[in-house]
Formats: sequence, structure tokens, C-alpha cells
Amino acid sequence: MQFSMDSSSSSTVSVMLVSALLLSFLMVVSASNFYLDFDTSYGGNRAKILNNGELLTLSLDNSSGSGVQSKGEFLYGKIDMQVKLVPNNSAGTVSTYYLSSKGQYWDELDFEFLGNLSGEPYIVHTNVITQGKGNREQQFYMWFDPTADFHNYSFLWNPQYILFSVDGTPIREFKNLESNGVPYPNKQLMQIYSSIWDGNDWATQGGRVKIDWSKAPFTASYRNFTTYACVQPNGTFCSSNSSFSTSNNNTWYYSQQLDSASQAKLKWVQDNYMIYNYCTDTKRFPNGTFPYECTVTN
Ligand SMILES: *[C@@H]1O[C@H](CO)[C@@H](O)[C@H](O)[C@H]1NC(C)=O
Ligand SMILES: *[C@@H]1O[C@H](CO)[C@@H](O)[C@H](O)[C@H]1NC(C)=O
Ligand SMILES: *[C@@H]1O[C@H](CO)[C@@H](O)[C@H](O)[C@H]1NC(C)=O
Ligand SMILES: *[C@@H]1O[C@H](CO)[C@@H](O)[C@H](O)[C@H]1NC(C)=O
Repeated sequence: MQFSMDSSSSSTVSVMLVSALLLSFLMVVSASNFYLDFDTSYGGNRAKILNNGELLTLSLDNSSGSGVQSKGEFLYGKIDMQVKLVPNNSAGTVSTYYLSSKGQYWDELDFEFLGNLSGEPYIVHTNVITQGKGNREQQFYMWFDPTADFHNYSFLWNPQYILFSVDGTPIREFKNLESNGVPYPNKQLMQIYSSIWDGNDWATQGGRVKIDWSKAPFTASYRNFTTYACVQPNGTFCSSNSSFSTSNNNTWYYSQQLDSASQAKLKWVQDNYMIYNYCTDTKRFPNGTFPYECTVTN
């Protein structure tokens, strides 16, 4: 996602963000009401909220895709969404679920689901963008058919690390290595976004397989969105908020590292299902020029 903004308005935004951080003593624990928590950002009625706010469907046809964004903004959170991807021939389509801040030096954490021909595997494409710089792609096949049913896709984002998980199984970790000069998303509020769009240029088999518009509209479904999140970069506040503590789950905020069981699962996914990792791409990073985070092992 690209956002453009000139530098004068970007400093205004920084001032606004700082005031937002000082003023917002708000802890959000929210479960699954798309009416209350999201706005349609484009695509008009191709974005549909159904079942009293419990279900969101996003469609793509030959004139437009569609997308939604959360009303709330977060700094750190444990954010889960159940997603059921476009069934059958979804080649050329990209469905997304991601967190992003705004401005020229934005932060973003991505789940992008790259469609395929019927019976061929979806790719779950992930990226971590900090202060406007990404190029940190990792891609995975899933160990199930993500079009057959809903599955949980989660972000855990705390001051120490970021974890991408699928049905509770970690697939990717990004540690806070700020002290080693790697920018970490810890200053900007992010919103939650979902969308579906035409990715003909690159999504399926490198762009060789195009969308079959006779199969349109293409529809992805989202439900059971859950957020444990705070807007204060301050752990004591997170734990002392009553609505947060009654949610009975703030361990995510303090967690310093993965336990050994999670590390074993992460390794299982990376050994068996990871199909692309920027950290091993010697064409992009010849002669040991890998980014710092790639040189650090668990
Ligand atoms: C788009 O799809 C509609 C409905 O299937 C069809 O009537 C129309 O001709 C299509 N337009 C283009 C430009 O393909
Ligand atoms: C999609 O595939 C399923 C089986 O995988 C089949 O039951 C269904 O009829 C197909 N739908 C369409 C629109 O082709
Ligand atoms: C996803 O999480 C929900 C609770 O949020 C749980 O009921 C469901 O079983 C989970 N599904 C999977 C496939 O893990
Ligand atoms: C689609 O299927 C082909 C053939 O199995 C595979 O090479 C590719 O990785 C799959 N996924 C995408 C998004 O292209």
C-alpha cells in the first residue's frame, strides 16, 4: 500500500499522533461487530456486513474491488480475524487482512492471500514495513485448504516482537532489534484493514495466470474479529485498565519471547510450508548484504 503525503503535513501528523498518545487512555477489547468497528473504505456495496455485524464479505468484480478499515487505531495489540478465502478459481485475486499506519514513513504488517486456479494452493504472503521501508516478504502454503472453511489469522504485536499466527500456530516472528538499528513499529498508531483487489500483474504464478472474469464476483468472508489492544506505549497502563484485565488475557503484551513449544511450531511451518524468504534470497542480497534482522537467529 502506498500513501503519499508532503513533509509539512507529515510533521502535523506527528504532532497529532503525540497528542493522541497523551490523550487516549483507552483500552479496547472488542469482539466482532463489523458495523460498530469498521467503515467501508472503497467498493461501495461490494463490501457487505451481514448477520447483525458478525460477518463481512468483500467482493471483486470487473469494475472494482472493495475494502474496509477499522474505526479504531492501535499501538500494540493481539488482533485475530477468521477468514474464508475465495473458493474455486480465484487466480489473479488478492484478499488482504493487514495493519497500517498513515503517512510517508508508515508502518504496516501484512497478510495477503494470493489466489489460484481451482485445486491449486493459495499463497499466504506476509510483509513487515517499518517507517515506509518493507521488502521483507515471506510466503507460505497452508497445511489446509483456506477456501473450504474459516481459519484464524492473528497478529501479536507488543514492544518486544511481532508474531504472525494461523490457527494458533506461529508462522513468522519479527523481533524488536531497534537497538541494532532496525526500525520497529512502536511510535505510530495502526488501523486494521481488509480488502480484495485485482492482482493480475503478480499474484498467481508470478502473473502468468490471469483473472477469469466470467467467474466474478470473487468473494472472501471475514468473521469473529477480536482485538485486545492498547493505545498507550506503557505496560503498566495496559494491565491496570479494568476492561482489559477482565478480558483475562494480557500476557501477550508482556511476552518477551516465544516459548519452546511455539518455537518448535514456527520451525515446523518454516521447514515445511515456507516457499519464499527474503532472508535467504541471495539474488536480492548478494555477498552477505542481508538486512540485519536476517543475520540474527532465535
Ligand atoms: C463486467 O461484468 C459485467 C457483468 O458480468 C458485464 O456485463 C460487463 O460486460 C463486464 N464489463 C467488462 C468491461 O468486461
Ligand atoms: C466450487 O468448488 C466446490 C468443490 O470444491 C463445488 O462444490 C462448487 O460447486 C464450486 N462452485 C462453483 C461456483 O464452481
Ligand atoms: C479460531 O478461533 C475461535 C475463537 O476465536 C475458535 O472458536 C475456533 O475454533 C478457531 N478456529 C480454528 C480453526 O482454530
Ligand atoms: C498456484 O499453483 C501453482 C501450481 O501448483 C503453484 O506453483 C503456485 O505457487 C500456486 N500459488 C500461486 C499464488 O501462484
